[in-house]
Amino acid sequence: MIDCHCHILPGVDDGATCLAESVLLARYQVKWGFRKAVCTSHRVGKYPNTPDDVKRACDLLRDELSKEGVPLELEPSMEYRLIPETWPETLEKGWLLPWEGNHILIELPIHKASRIGNIVPEDEIERLIDMGFQPVLAHPERYLYLDMDRYLSFKEAGALFQRNIGSLEGLYGEAVSVRAEALLTEGLYDLIGTDLHNERYAAFFDSFGFKAG
Ligand SMILES: [Fe+2]
Repeated sequence: MIDCHCHILPGVDDGATCLAESVLLARYQVKWGFRKAVCTSHRVGKYPNTPDDVKRACDLLRDELSKEGVPLELEPSMEYRLIPETWPETLEKGWLLPWEGNHILIELPIHKASRIGNIVPEDEIERLIDMGFQPVLAHPERYLYLDMDRYLSFKEAGALFQRNIGSLEGLYGEAVSVRAEALLTEGLYDLIGTDLHNERYAAFFDSFGFKAG
């Protein structure tokens, strides 16, 4: 099993803050049954990481896991928010760092739809596909400003949908849980991921006995 979405690299975004916390989170992933983690560090206004930043942090953690005997394979990648502050520059500089299968994890602004500016997600999904990538929309259940027609339009454009572990169980509140249920009922999900940021997430997953395999 592969965890295709997590923030366990040390000090690059709002996930793990230091190497010790990274190792702790990796140990949880192994316990849940993952053999590999795709490290999808943020690329947003507040965390404008480049692929080199992420690869460096990934090498650091890989060495530490090997020293500590934690059997988790790591692949560096990124979670790209479709916002004017970072997305056009990402494309311009060729800063797309896909994971296995040429997947690119994209996300939308979580709360404020207006932060997307004049970016049209469907156009960006099609653009990525034309470039030979497979776009994956992270946690569609968290964008409560979308309606079902819009979700279907993203699917039609060619995006895969990734549900967060814990969304159904209430990690992000009741409204997100209801939305996740609706997307599940429509059969719109293709992948799941932890979106693991810190130990609070891990404790929540353990509280409902989460197992990946
Ligand atoms: Fe994430």
